[in-house]
Amino acid sequence: MNCKEVLERIYKEIASKENKGAIATYIPELAKVNPDNFGVCFLSVNNEEHGVGDWQTKFSIQSISKVLALSFAYKTFGDEIWERVGVEPSGTPFNSLVQLESDNGIPRNPFMNSGAMVISDMLVSHLENPKEDFLNYVREICGSDQIQYSEAVAKSEASVGYRNKALCNFIKSFGNIENDPNEVLDFYFHKCAIEMSCQELSKTFLFLANHDFRTTKGKKVLSTSKSKRINAIMQTCGFYDESGEFSFKVGLPGKSGVGGGIVAVYPGKYCITVWSPKLNEKGNSYRGMQFLETFTTETELSIF
Ligand code: DON
Repeated sequence: MNCKEVLERIYKEIASKENKGAIATYIPELAKVNPDNFGVCFLSVNNEEHGVGDWQTKFSIQSISKVLALSFAYKTFGDEIWERVGVEPSGTPFNSLVQLESDNGIPRNPFMNSGAMVISDMLVSHLENPKEDFLNYVREICGSDQIQYSEAVAKSEASVGYRNKALCNFIKSFGNIENDPNEVLDFYFHKCAIEMSCQELSKTFLFLANHDFRTTKGKKVLSTSKSKRINAIMQTCGFYDESGEFSFKVGLPGKSGVGGGIVAVYPGKYCITVWSPKLNEKGNSYRGMQFLETFTTETELSIF
C-alpha cells in the first residue's frame, strides 16, 4: 500500500463533497477561523510522515490538550489521580454537569470538562508556574519551542465561560478542587488555547503509539502501562457521547477538540491528526470523522 497516495486520494474525495456541520462559535475567537481549512498528518512509529492540505497551519487544539494534561498528571501523581476522577464513559456531552451531583463531584472521566478541571487543579497544586511549566512539557514532547498559547482564545473563552465556571465551582463545593477556582479556570482556558498544527500534534502524540518514545532530552514520556491506559480512555471516552460511534466507525483510540482537530493513535503503528473546523452536532469535526472512517476502512489499519 502506498500510504501517501491513499491519504491524498481520500483527502481529495472528501474535499470535493459538501462540508457539513458548523464551526464552534460559543468561544467568539474560534468563530473567526476559515471553515474550509482541512489538513491531515500521518506519522508512523518508524517516522514515515505524510502531510496533506493545511497540515502545517496552527489551530486551537482545545480538548485535545486534555490528553496531555492527563499524561502529565498521571506521570506526576500515579494512580492516586483515580481517587478524584473516574475512567468510565459518561454518555453525556463534553460540558455536562448532570452526573456530578449524584457522583459527589467526582467526574466520570478526565476528558469531560469536569474531569479536565480536576486534572488542571492537580497540576496547579503541583507546578511552580503552571502555565509555563505545562507549555514546556508539551514543547519537550513535540521537540519544538514554537508552541504557544493563544492569549486571544484564552481570554475569549474566559469572557463567556459561564458553564466551565459553574462546573469548577460546583466541584469545589464537593471538595474535589483544592485551589482557587479562578486560578484553575485560568490554567484550563490556557491549556485549551494551545495552538498546534496537524504535524505538531502527530509528533506530540507519537508517544502513545510508540511506547519507547523518548524526547530530545532522552526522557520517556510515560511508562508502557500508563500509555496503554491513556489509550484505553481515549478509546472509550475521547468523543464524549459519540465515543461509541467513533470506535464503531474508525476503530482507534482518539481525542477531538472543538477547534476541529482529531488525533487518533494505532498503538505500535502510527498516529494521525486531521483538522477541519466544522463540527457535527456532538462537537466533533465532521470531515475529521469522515476522513478517519474512510482511512481505517480502506487501509484496514484499525485496531479491530
Ligand atoms: O471547555 C470548553 O468548552 C473548550 N475549551 C473545550 C471543549 C472541547 O474541545 C470539546 N471537544 N470536542
